[in-house]
Amino acid sequence: MSFLKIPWRAYWQLLRRYLRPQSGAAFFMSALLLASIALQLVGPQVVRAFIDAARAGAGERDLIAKALIFIGVAALQQVMNVLAAYWGARVAWTATNALRADLTEHLVKLDLGFHKARTPGELIERVDGDVNALAEFFSSFVVQLVGSALLLAGVLAIVFREDVRLGLVLSGFTLLAVAVLGWVRRFATPLWAEDRQRSAAYYGYLGEAITAAEDLRSSGAVPYAMRRLFEHLRGWMPVRRRAEARRSVVWMAAVAVFACGDAIAYGLGGGLYRIKAISLGTVYMIVAYVALLAEPIETIRTQMQNLQRADASIGRVRELMEARSSLEDGTESLPSGALPVEFRTVSFGYDDGPPESPQASPGGPQEPRVHGSHGSYDSRESRESQEPQEPQEPYELENLSFTLEPGCTLGLLGRTGSGKTTIARLLFRMYDPQQGEIRLGGVNLRHARIESIRTRVGLVTQDVQILEASLRDNITFFDPDIPDGRVIAAIEALGLKSWFDRLPGGLDTPVSQAGLSAGEAQCVALTRVFMRDPGLIILDEASSRLDPATEALLERALDKLLLGRTAIIIAHRLSTVERADDILIIRERGWVLEHGSREKLAADANSTFCRLQRAGMEAMLG
Ligand SMILES: Nc1ncnc2c1ncn2[C@@H]1O[C@H](COP(=O)(O)OP(=O)(O)OP(=O)(O)O)[C@@H](O)[C@H]1O
Ligand SMILES: [Mg+2]
Repeated sequence: MSFLKIPWRAYWQLLRRYLRPQSGAAFFMSALLLASIALQLVGPQVVRAFIDAARAGAGERDLIAKALIFIGVAALQQVMNVLAAYWGARVAWTATNALRADLTEHLVKLDLGFHKARTPGELIERVDGDVNALAEFFSSFVVQLVGSALLLAGVLAIVFREDVRLGLVLSGFTLLAVAVLGWVRRFATPLWAEDRQRSAAYYGYLGEAITAAEDLRSSGAVPYAMRRLFEHLRGWMPVRRRAEARRSVVWMAAVAVFACGDAIAYGLGGGLYRIKAISLGTVYMIVAYVALLAEPIETIRTQMQNLQRADASIGRVRELMEARSSLEDGTESLPSGALPVEFRTVSFGYDDGPPESPQASPGGPQEPRVHGSHGSYDSRESRESQEPQEPQEPYELENLSFTLEPGCTLGLLGRTGSGKTTIARLLFRMYDPQQGEIRLGGVNLRHARIESIRTRVGLVTQDVQILEASLRDNITFFDPDIPDGRVIAAIEALGLKSWFDRLPGGLDTPVSQAGLSAGEAQCVALTRVFMRDPGLIILDEASSRLDPATEALLERALDKLLLGRTAIIIAHRLSTVERADDILIIRERGWVLEHGSREKLAADANSTFCRLQRAGMEAMLG
């Protein structure tokens, strides 16, 4: 039975972990719930007493007192309901906020490989969608399922105490009602799933058509687009019609079941009254209790369904919590000052590349692969006379080796997709290479503390991420301990004061991704990096062109930033590498086309770099 498939242990662990810190509030909520249930059970008893007293000819005062008690009980019950709902929501939100925070922190710490394998939408859905489903679980489950079960048990217990026969009949009715309603519901659910699918397809198409409206109009495709729209609608309508019809059937079934309950209550109550087994007040009480049964039966049924839905969520949330970063943190710290860089026969693939075992891998570090067609470009001796062997999943970087002296600047050139950004990510240890090693300041990155890499290496990516916050927060990343003086000093040191002075609110100026030009975003990024005083700077140049004034401003800032630091500039323009001491030109998969001192390469008329300068970058590499 589906009931048994629910991972109760997982729920229990979750409840314990996140509800324990608020055990006081949870306890209070449970107390309110119990009180509300008790009051619901007391209500019909009071009315019974009223009816029986009236039948026995009790005095007006007595009857008024009983009526007032009933009103008091009913009002108190409402108050309890409101309080229980308030505390339920409070407990649920506090618990799920803690879960949200835990999940977000965990996600942010996971490696880039994990993030690239999932879309932001998927992760947002998990942190928010799944957790929301669980929030419902925290509040609804505890309040409604447990509450309903208690109410149900209370009603049945009272009825049993009153009359065992009645108790037996009503218990049987309850079981039957849950079974029938569950069964009927099952018959409607698949149609709703199909309805949701159809509606998703329709909205997907609608979105696509509206986005492409201009193209559709200009290419005269509007009638076709409309026909596709009608097709979607024609497919959707009968499904929705049937689904709605079945929904009505389910609703009618519920009405019929509860009408049967009423019939049983009236029939049995009436029968027992006739043989004088119970009083008229008790007949009323039984009818009231049967009416009271309808709600918990419905709630239990829907909550069990919600619980099954939350199942998928809890599974996904746990899976996410259990995801471990594939990067193991090291223990060594990177030295201070400018950092020398060394790539030793590094091979790296995003999908874990070819199998890692040496036998299976045709291109381990000691056996570099050769690619016949590109052999002539390869300046490295190690790539001679090998059999061309293509791996099933080629590496993005193959057997890359180069060194960079501390304090020197390397200009990294290569066509799009050749692996330049990948090199930057490896240096920042967002991934580990499958083969070979990368050393920074003599430390193998695998053995370095990730924290130390993050502070000693500054990375300015191709598209700088600007947060919806003030300029200050964008530069300090919300660290309140960094004084404004330091931020402004950094801006001044980089020669960006003229840009800064133009901002209306100074550091308080609100900035956003949309509100900053590419050049301004670069200013923010350079300041961010400068503040951390790294020993290696990697600049993945934005491919978009900047206006000459901004470019000159940034050039000057770069001069300041790179002073006394090692730097790798991934350049899309030749002008950018003019400051480089060394040049590294790569082809696809990081194969080195040329590596050497910029001056020497520029002087050598046969060098690729020299030809690049003559013919222009796009003509050669693009
Ligand atoms: N996250 C990723 N997952 C899988 N493959 C990737 C990923 N990022 C890049 N690649 C692939 O790795 C190769 C190298 O990409 P990379 O971004 O390093 O190129 P690039 O030299 O920086 O290009 P560009 O000049 O366009 O910035 C490309 O074939 C690309 O498709
Ligand atoms: Mg790139």
